Amino acid sequence: MHIGIDFGTSYSAAAAIIDGELKLVRFGDAEQFRTAVFFPELVPDPSDFTLTPALEAQLENQLRLARQQQRQLATAASARGQAPVARSEHELRSEALRVVRRQWMEEQTRNATASVASFQHALFGEAAVEGYLESGGGNLIESPKSMFGYRLDPQVRKVIVHIATHIIEHIRLSASQQFGTPVRGAVIGRPVEFRSSMGAQGSLQAIEILREAAAAAGFDSVSFLEEPAAAAMHYHKSLAQRQHVLVVDIGGGTTDVAHAQLGGDEAPHIVRSWGLPKGGTDLDVNVSLHSFMPQLGKDIISMPAHRYVDAASVHNLPKQREFRQQDYRLVDEPYGSRLRALQEAGATTRLNQLAERSKITLSASAGFRAELDFLEPGLAVELGRDDFHAAIDSFLLQMERTLTIVRGDLAQLPASLFLTGGTSRSPQIRDHVQSCFPEIPLVQGDPSLGVVSGLAVAANEADPG
Ligand SMILES: Nc1ncnc2c1ncn2[C@@H]1O[C@H](COP(=O)(O)OP(=O)(O)OP(=O)(O)O)[C@@H](O)[C@H]1O
Ligand SMILES: [Mg+2]
Repeated sequence: MHIGIDFGTSYSAAAAIIDGELKLVRFGDAEQFRTAVFFPELVPDPSDFTLTPALEAQLENQLRLARQQQRQLATAASARGQAPVARSEHELRSEALRVVRRQWMEEQTRNATASVASFQHALFGEAAVEGYLESGGGNLIESPKSMFGYRLDPQVRKVIVHIATHIIEHIRLSASQQFGTPVRGAVIGRPVEFRSSMGAQGSLQAIEILREAAAAAGFDSVSFLEEPAAAAMHYHKSLAQRQHVLVVDIGGGTTDVAHAQLGGDEAPHIVRSWGLPKGGTDLDVNVSLHSFMPQLGKDIISMPAHRYVDAASVHNLPKQREFRQQDYRLVDEPYGSRLRALQEAGATTRLNQLAERSKITLSASAGFRAELDFLEPGLAVELGRDDFHAAIDSFLLQMERTLTIVRGDLAQLPASLFLTGGTSRSPQIRDHVQSCFPEIPLVQGDPSLGVVSGLAVAANEADPG
């Protein structure tokens, strides 16, 4: 059996067509879950490496071997009448240290892999976030999709594949259980352009990671479909007449656009697609930087601005680590204490949750009070409409630029604009999309389930069962 999987930056969902009917996979009581996983055990962190007495002994051993090898090489060289290539004691030591460090990392990964292989240890969705905040330890990974297109060293890549595998396996097992049959095939959604630090190469890496993870999670057959094309498949079903449509999916990590010919008896035809690797999670970072970080001294004390970006970027593991490793003991009060409180386990996650809650509340009401007492007793921030606008303005501008390019690329105006994705719940964002195409009607699809429904249709076509 084949299912459609929407592995979203913020939320994941899955569905299948059974006897001609759309069936959403249920995760507990819900039809989607936050794309987060919590491992009570530690996933290895290279910066945790310190020379314990046991590792010191390994290092000495390694160094002895290296010296011995150097002596043998020198003897062999002089027998050939050549000058020996001598490496300094310092070079030998740093080479030996590199070897010991690598062996340590490999062992840590083996242990972590063995300990998290069993499913009862991992928590998913909101339970993952709560589990992390309650336990004050372990590892929470939120929105791993945001990392797929980033330059990853081999160890971190392994960890990311491992996390994606757990999430996809969670989906496969939930679906198999619900449908009463082993699920072995999937059509997985992908953004037009993944968030990337390496241009188009990032999207290739992201797809490789998803392929490896899906195979390890027990899928024998996997294909990919662009997310706005999936949303188009879903909209297609509701159109009696053939027409040109523009599909806009504004999600947590990316904004994706597709021009499609849909409706009527013919199959949907995707003409072209465009991607902007920005979405709702960027708005949360903006809210945090604009409204919260001044309480931690941003633009007040002389602290490099990127430290605040590191703290706010909860989906970027290296940036989070970088923020946690800083020493804020000499920073002026009250900011030093607040920064140190933000370095505590779970604090940046809490701050990000508050930023997202502020954004969602302000998209419908005039004010929000964010309580920051986990940073300092009694500390709070009142946010108003101006703060919301400041947080979303740059995104509106980027979205407008993308839609202007789309408009320029179209030979004719589409008959309608189909809007989906969680971020399209914001009336300001919806209005802004409409203002880029004032002539055509905007059709609001289901913000959460448009993409997964289309993926289920595509999965059914791949394997009608
Ligand atoms: N009322 C609202 N106003 C603004 N944003 C909202 C609202 N409700 C939800 N969101 C945002 O929608 C985003 C999630 O949308 P969605 O579920 O479509 O993303 P996703 O599919 O996980 O991500 P992607 O498709 O980019 O990988 C989150 O950033 C969330 O904060
Ligand atoms: Mg999405």
